[in-house]
Amino acid sequence: MMIRMKDAAILASPAAYADAVTTAVRAAAAYYTDGSTPLGDDEYDALVRAIEAYEGANPDEVLPDSPTGKVAGGAVAGDVPHSVPMLSLDNVFSAEELAAWAAGLERRLGRPVDGWCVEPKLDGLAVAARYRAGRLTRILTRGDGLAGEDITHAAGDVLGLPATLTEALDVELRGEVLLTADQFETANEIRTAHGAPPFAHPRSGAAGTLRAKDRPYRVELTFFAYSATGLPGLGHSELLARLAGLGANTAAATPAAPLRCATLEEVQQRVDEIAALRAVLPFGIDGVVVKADAAADQEQAGSGSRAPRWAVARKLAAQHKVTRLLEVEWNVGRTGIVAPRAVLEPVVIDGVTVTYATLHNPADITRRDLMIGDQVFIYRAGDVIPRVEAPLVEERTGAEQPIAFPEVCPRCGDAIDRTQQRWRCVRGRGCQAVASIRYAVGRDQLDVEGLGGTRAVQLVDAGLVADVADLFALTREQLLGLERMGDTSADNLLAAIGTARTQPLNRVFCALGVRGTGRTMSRRIAAHFGSMAAIRAADAEALAEVDGIGTEKAQVIVEELAELAPVLDKLAAHGVGTAVTAPTAPAGAAPGGSGEAAAGGAGGPLAGEAVVVTGSMTGALAALSRNEMNELVERAGGKASSSVSSRTTLLVAGEKAGSKRAKAEQLGIRILTPEEFADLVADHLA
Ligand code: IVH
Repeated sequence: MMIRMKDAAILASPAAYADAVTTAVRAAAAYYTDGSTPLGDDEYDALVRAIEAYEGANPDEVLPDSPTGKVAGGAVAGDVPHSVPMLSLDNVFSAEELAAWAAGLERRLGRPVDGWCVEPKLDGLAVAARYRAGRLTRILTRGDGLAGEDITHAAGDVLGLPATLTEALDVELRGEVLLTADQFETANEIRTAHGAPPFAHPRSGAAGTLRAKDRPYRVELTFFAYSATGLPGLGHSELLARLAGLGANTAAATPAAPLRCATLEEVQQRVDEIAALRAVLPFGIDGVVVKADAAADQEQAGSGSRAPRWAVARKLAAQHKVTRLLEVEWNVGRTGIVAPRAVLEPVVIDGVTVTYATLHNPADITRRDLMIGDQVFIYRAGDVIPRVEAPLVEERTGAEQPIAFPEVCPRCGDAIDRTQQRWRCVRGRGCQAVASIRYAVGRDQLDVEGLGGTRAVQLVDAGLVADVADLFALTREQLLGLERMGDTSADNLLAAIGTARTQPLNRVFCALGVRGTGRTMSRRIAAHFGSMAAIRAADAEALAEVDGIGTEKAQVIVEELAELAPVLDKLAAHGVGTAVTAPTAPAGAAPGGSGEAAAGGAGGPLAGEAVVVTGSMTGALAALSRNEMNELVERAGGKASSSVSSRTTLLVAGEKAGSKRAKAEQLGIRILTPEEFADLVADHLA
């Protein structure tokens, strides 16, 4: 049967309908029990819509086990009855459907809705937590909505669900239990350390954890309250505030906090904002919930057997998708790292076709027990590189093949150093000299014009250049000995290399391609230490004082610099990167001193500002790369950063600014257009 995303497929016959019902019930059972699913969330939703359409046209043929109209698709039941049924939500999939739903509700009420509340649809498991005289006595899963499973044993592992409330009340808190991004990562570290397979995604992790009783390890979860029984008469936003006052966690403290909106226009805007924040939220959401806020509206609208009429879920496209792992490629990176990459049967995730996904390192493949031909979960959020989460082991057919690991470096055939988690060609950077040099001469590093890929290959093949430092020893005669190199080209190239000699420390450092240090980190390191000599003299402890360098990365940098010593010596001999500026961390500064060291001088129009640049620049700034923008910020005395947080004080938002703008607006951060910003820093424009 064909299932298309967005518009429901047409079920053409009773057999196709029956088949669809069986598939949906099976998928719902897996989804609501262990959180896994042979169908992605989008496909499940599309399937249910196709079933609904068929049943609408053929009401006499509705099968008794059809998932429509049932909580959890009718797939799961528990044995402890709920005091009040735990309902589900109806779904809409577009702004138009949301508007139509709201209009329908207002028609039913016979008046405009008295305010809405818009909040994240948390992607976890619904639970009911019963309190007697303010003490937590029982936790139940939703089950089929009428009866759930007792999971009280998990009480001690759920943050945000207090053992005692601030008042001795008899109430039942309802909400979602999930693994935040950090908790998911920690959970998988703990599990793999215990030889257990990692969770495929946060929802299955939460489901598995809530049910598990006798694990030799503990996994922490988080509860978000969004409803309650036993606190009548409150509007929804009032209820949320009351729940927080009782000591329960709510989404109020998150960037996607529930917001009361007066008009549908405001509702749609908040829906878009929450959707835009999705990639930066510390927990998964699969939609945005819109609720009539007033108690009187909710009461009058009432509920159907499956869902309340006063609330609806505006679903967002799934970030997890299931597809097939076709192959694993092994590529050698600039620094000689031999990295695996998954080749996938193309799959559309949130509008983007994904064909490749990262697999981190060989140990990761082994830990995840992946095989060629497996159905795998792929996760993609925002602009991050999609990653393979886990195989659907229960979907295996027996035709899957083990993944072959390379015996020798797939690029040069030399041996592989397997002593670290990340494998590396024993030739290190030498294996990829051309790539290293191309990176070093790139626009944001040494910016050597006229040294493209073909020239770099020529120079390396001719034995003239083995690393970036050798560029500065090139002579006119050597260049003229190369094919297709005339007088003018040779002079131009030598002139460009001459200009590169004077590049500031941050760019020379960046050109080295030290693992774990891109442009931003190179600027911070350069500002912190002030000279290449000081950087080379730094030990891991001193490096870890730089903002954003943890102890692990600091150690890698020390090792990399030791490996790069011959290159650094040659650069110094050529006078490259030898300029000295005042370090922001005086030599010998006590450990634990300010790590916020990226800012340039103490003065300047951006003194004290923490600046993030997003979107495409226009006007006087149109030609600047993101790195050049960040350099400009720092020249003008500010601190440049790539992500918006509560510490950010200024956002420069160009065209097509997305989630960063939304987050800055949410946090009330000052936002400037590129033109306004250019005026502000006019004296520092190079
Ligand atoms: S309200 C009567 N609010 O989504 C109230 N549900 O697909 C019904 N969910 O069963 C639920 N975030 O597990 C509500 N902010 C939120 C939610 C939320 C996640 C879950 C909940 C519900 C399911 C329906």
